[in-house]
Amino acid sequence: MSLIVRDATLEDAEDILAIYNYAALNTTAVWTDGPSDLDSRRQWLLARQQAGYPVLVAMKGRDVVGFASFGDFRPFPGYRHTVENSVYVDERHHRAGIGRSLVAALIERATAMHKHAMIAGIDGTNAASIGLHASLGFAEVARMPEVGCKFGRWLDLVFMQKLLASDVRP
Ligand SMILES: CC(C)(COP(=O)(O)OP(=O)(O)OC[C@H]1O[C@@H](n2cnc3c(N)ncnc32)[C@H](O)[C@@H]1OP(=O)(O)O)[C@@H](O)C(=O)NCCC(=O)NCCS
Repeated sequence: MSLIVRDATLEDAEDILAIYNYAALNTTAVWTDGPSDLDSRRQWLLARQQAGYPVLVAMKGRDVVGFASFGDFRPFPGYRHTVENSVYVDERHHRAGIGRSLVAALIERATAMHKHAMIAGIDGTNAASIGLHASLGFAEVARMPEVGCKFGRWLDLVFMQKLLASDVRP
């Protein structure tokens, strides 16, 4: 079955929540201590879209099998050409190219929006995300030891960065 990547709608919030909560409860992909709820995910989706940023879902047939987005990297005017991404794939569909399709689509969108740089903030032990971003031309630019914690252990934050092929000037 072929994969379709499209803009999310509010109707996708429940599927997005399920994929997000699996990662929140079982992985160090997101450094939260508990699950999110439908209202928070809906607010997040609307806030991203109202800010002009994409929220994308990957579809296999009628099933949402992943989602991805980007937003401001830091909330100061000088960072306006830089975005930070997030990507989550249903764990039953890992290693099938879905994460790569989603992040490639984010890169296209950010380039079309005249963004200059995309950042991914990743737990240092998250080999899948580090490998995914490396496969799309992101390079590790910082590794900050023990700035987070989850599941009773310290987490290193790795920043990976890709400069985009847009024509924006500083
Ligand atoms: C990270 C994640 C999005 C990757 O998505 P995916 O659909 O499984 O990845 P893909 O199949 O598109 O993989 C693309 C490339 O990434 C790399 N990669 C993916 N999984 C990997 C793994 N477990 N170990 C090492 N490299 C891996 C490989 O280079 C792969 O290319 P290849 O399969 O041709 O070798 C997915 O594992 C996930 O949702 N994890 C939980 C949430 C998360 O960690 N999100 C990122 C937060 S920063």
